[in-house]
Amino acid sequence: MNVAFLGMGRMGREMARHVIEAGHQLTIWNRTPGRARELVAAGAREAASVRDAVAGADAVVLMLFDDASARQVLGDVVAGAPARTLVINTTTIAPATGRDLGRVAATAGLRYVEAPVVGTIGPARDATLRVLVGASEQDAAAAEELLSRFGTTRHVGGVGAATALKAVVNLGLALATGALGEALRLGSDLGVDRDLLRSELAGGALGFILNYKQSMLADNDFQPATFTLDGLIKDLRIATGSARRPLPMATTTLALATEASDAGHGKEDFASLAAYYTAT
Ligand SMILES: NC(=O)c1ccc[n+]([C@@H]2O[C@H](COP(=O)([O-])OP(=O)(O)OC[C@H]3O[C@@H](n4cnc5c(N)ncnc54)[C@H](OP(=O)(O)O)[C@@H]3O)[C@@H](O)[C@H]2O)c1
Repeated sequence: MNVAFLGMGRMGREMARHVIEAGHQLTIWNRTPGRARELVAAGAREAASVRDAVAGADAVVLMLFDDASARQVLGDVVAGAPARTLVINTTTIAPATGRDLGRVAATAGLRYVEAPVVGTIGPARDATLRVLVGASEQDAAAAEELLSRFGTTRHVGGVGAATALKAVVNLGLALATGALGEALRLGSDLGVDRDLLRSELAGGALGFILNYKQSMLADNDFQPATFTLDGLIKDLRIATGSARRPLPMATTTLALATEASDAGHGKEDFASLAAYYTAT
């Protein structure tokens, strides 16, 4: 199969490698060229434009940052891809945007599958992501060969269903990170020993996020980022912008995360939110 992979960010670079390893012809494209030299060395062709990348593609995978970048790049895919090309959008975007992009692709005669992923760089590297699939039965089946290279797939409904589930999952991640920051702040105010505090919290309700980010928090060093604070802010905006009813905890966490980003932490790992909360 000829596969075009668009977006060579943290996640895209890792995921695209599995496409080559599966024996497919891989063409890559990234807004900033030259970000995936290791893939070119492994046999991928780097295209100079989206249109060039998708011209002879059977399938196109998008792994971009947000709604705006996915919409922009899909516009070029639609202009350049052959009819019936399978477009697989793995970007975390709002469900309403996902449904709209699905309509744009369908109107252009392309097949559209949304496949946001749960997991981070390590799982992307090890092909152990949880891949949430939103598409028709037929399109999900057509995408299975490629998507299963990234991890375990789960077909959860039509276009919009997987982005909806992903929005909920990442709301949980954001709230847990904010909650950890607040618990650490209270512990600090009450003069609880830091090591004691961490070891007790690790066994409690906030244990997942504390254990996950233990070493970054202990060193107070949030580089290199696996998932940036600005990425988490993007997902909090997806949550608050998609909800029918108010999400007060999300709104508060978003305000704090935005403050932390404005203070210069946006490109750091999202765990810096917990540290910012504790320190301020
Ligand atoms: N990192 C994680 O742990 C993780 C886990 C699950 C899901 N996700 C989701 O996966 C997606 C990618 O995350 P990531 O961490 O890989 O982000 P990233 O490292 O910041 O990569 C973002 C990619 O999008 C491209 N991009 C941004 N704006 C663009 C635009 N206007 N036009 C064209 N390309 C544009 C960037 O190109 P440049 O190189 O030119 O900037 C880069 O290739 C996000 O939706 C994120 O929420 C991330």
